[in-house]
Formats: sequence, C-alpha cells, structure tokens
Amino acid sequence: VLVLNRVQANAQALLVAHRGASFRAPENTLASVELAWKLGAKAVEIDVHLSKDGKIMVNHDKNTQRTGEKKLLIKEALSNDLRKLDVGSFKHKKYKGEQIPFLEEVMATVPEDGKLFIEVKCGPEVLETLKENIAQSGKQGQMVIISFSKKVVTQAKAVLPEVPVYWLRGNYKAHSLEEIIQIVKEHNLDGLDVSYKLVTPAFAERMKQEKIAVFVYTVNDPELAQQLVDNGVQGITTDRPGWLRKKLKL
Ligand code: G3P
Ligand code: CA
Repeated sequence: VLVLNRVQANAQALLVAHRGASFRAPENTLASVELAWKLGAKAVEIDVHLSKDGKIMVNHDKNTQRTGEKKLLIKEALSNDLRKLDVGSFKHKKYKGEQIPFLEEVMATVPEDGKLFIEVKCGPEVLETLKENIAQSGKQGQMVIISFSKKVVTQAKAVLPEVPVYWLRGNYKAHSLEEIIQIVKEHNLDGLDVSYKLVTPAFAERMKQEKIAVFVYTVNDPELAQQLVDNGVQGITTDRPGWLRKKLKL
C-alpha cells in the first residue's frame, strides 16, 4: 500500500522483473532473481507450484520439460528429484547447474526495499504452506500474491488478509469487466494484474473511478510502457527491468 501511494504521488510505476531478469538469465532461477535486484529492480515476479512432498517450488510450467532436461510433473515429483534438474542450460551454458529454487530461497534474496510478487500457478492447497513460508521469511510486508485462479485469490485474501492480492486477467472469456470489478470488491482484493492489451484509456479511467489498482504484464517496449504509465497503471511487469528503467527514467 505504501508503494502504491508513492507511485500515485509521483505518477510513476513500479517495475516488476518478470520471472526475474528473464531476458538475460534463465527464468525463475536464483540467477535471474539476483540479477534483477543487481539491476536495481524494486520488485520481482516468480511462479510457484507445490511438489509431491509439500515444498513450494519456483517454476513457470507445471512440468519441467521446457526448462529442465526431462519431464517431471511438479505435483507428482519429490523436491529432491526436482532439485537434480539443470534449469539453466536451456538459456545458456554459462548457467549450467541452476536448480529449481525453493520459494524460501527466493524470499531470502529480497532486499529491504524489495517486493516479491508470488504467482500461484497451482491450486489453493498451497496457501497454508505459503503462509508458513511468509511468516518464516520475516518479510511479511514485502510479499504480494497474484494468480489467474479466482479460487486462489479469494482464498488467499481469507488465509492471508495482510498480504496484497492481485487477480491476473488476460481477457474477458471467463468473466466480463463488470463481473471482474464485482469480484474484486466482494472479496476485498487489492487490485488487478492484467495483460497490457486490456488497458484502454476507458479501462484505466474506470479503474480509477472504482479505486482498483492496476498492474500490467508483460511489457518490454518502452513506448508502450510509457503509455501505460501515462494511463496511471501502478506497476509494469517486464523481462528487462534494468533496460526499461533507464529508458523510462524511473
Ligand atoms: O505477471 C503475470 C504474468 O507473469 C502472467 O503470465 O505466463 O508469464 O505467468 P505468465
Ligand atoms: Ca507469472
């Protein structure tokens, strides 16, 4: 909330490093998260799933085929086996040996002035463990939960009322704009995190009227990013946090 006030006052936006600094380093690894902080990012976004043995693992897809060497379905795999995979080499050989991080490891990297946007890709069964991880991190005020799942965001707000929760939306297929606004209000969600394609001037104006905070994903084009800032978005998720910050002079 503090960040939002600051952002509104300066008509600026928080840049959120998408899967870490994923343009340069392998997404969702400690290397990409550390690089994002080093580049001056004040927020990082990562994706999480629950392993078979109940550990929260940082990975985008529900299986490891695209970024690991072989296909393990995270919810059916033990964290020990997931940790044996190399999820760095797919990006570049210099990242060979990067492991799928435990969420706790990523939390430990978050600097005092940083925010971690945790995208829950699995179901609400992860929330109790997430609550424990957040408590143990000692960084309660720095964590943010995002998810496309209505079940996850509504239950997250109930289980973790102090943690900001933003609902991810990419289109109006499942819910119309009016339904989205109604659900945000009914469940006291802190706002939306939407595809930049949804942010027309009319959308931005409506969200201002409704006092619904808007973050956007995923923007690497400075001109588009500037338009979105001018439209009043609170944050922009980008694969290139350092480069875009310089282009926008944020
Ligand atoms: O920040 C939201 C964005 O990460 C959602 O898309 O597919 O990159 O998880 P995806
Ligand atoms: Ca994501």
